[in-house]
Amino acid sequence: MKKHFALLLAVGALLMFLVACTAKQEEKKVENPESTQTEPAQVAEKSTKEEQVSKNDGQKAKTLIIYFSYSGNTKKMAESIQQKLPDSDIYELKTVQTYPASYRDCVDQAKKEQENEIYPELKEYPDVSSYETIFIGAPNWWGDYPMPVYGFIKKVDLSKKTVIPFCTHGGSGGEVMFKNLLQATGSTEQVQGLAIFDKNLDTMDKAVEDWLKEIDKI
Ligand SMILES: Cc1cc2nc3c(=O)[nH]c(=O)nc-3n(C[C@H](O)[C@H](O)[C@H](O)COP(=O)(O)O)c2cc1C
Repeated sequence: MKKHFALLLAVGALLMFLVACTAKQEEKKVENPESTQTEPAQVAEKSTKEEQVSKNDGQKAKTLIIYFSYSGNTKKMAESIQQKLPDSDIYELKTVQTYPASYRDCVDQAKKEQENEIYPELKEYPDVSSYETIFIGAPNWWGDYPMPVYGFIKKVDLSKKTVIPFCTHGGSGGEVMFKNLLQATGSTEQVQGLAIFDKNLDTMDKAVEDWLKEIDKI
């Protein structure tokens, strides 16, 4: 009987020892949170950094080419610019009411809009927030950018962007309109623009390439 009692005591003591050991191990897990949390924290930090790098890279490459074109010349020029800047995006400004097909009527309407500061409504306004550099091109209309372009500028904040003007024209060049545009955008980062005579469209590609090299874009 005594023997049985001693055996029972020994088994009981062993059980208590085992229970105590397990509890200690559980305690250790709670006491040392690093053992379970370090890795996820490092991973999270790493992925945040990686995200930032790729975002910055994306922003660095962000260039937008915005243009308005009535008969297609400036469209060609805008496309030529984009072809040489593979990371750039291109956007055509389109008015809700299209301009008259008759050249003479279009000339008259453009004059009226300019004299009366009428800004024709655009179908859509591009979101320019993610772009650092914005090319803005249009035909020379009465010595200036067409009013739809000024309507666009009124709606967006370009003051912190680098604005690069370009145009096609029938002989008046682009100096005056470039100056007006840059003043309207309020951009302090201004770059020399390019004006292409509509008679010289066949050599435009080369002129665009030379210009982009000159202004350090390619
Ligand atoms: C309404 C209107 C006004 C224009 N005014 C001028 C001007 O003042 N000076 C000039 O050199 N060319 C003028 N042009 C000619 C255009 O600037 C030129 O043909 C241009 O390349 C057309 O570009 P687009 O095909 O992109 O519309 C005018 C053309 C139009 C339709």
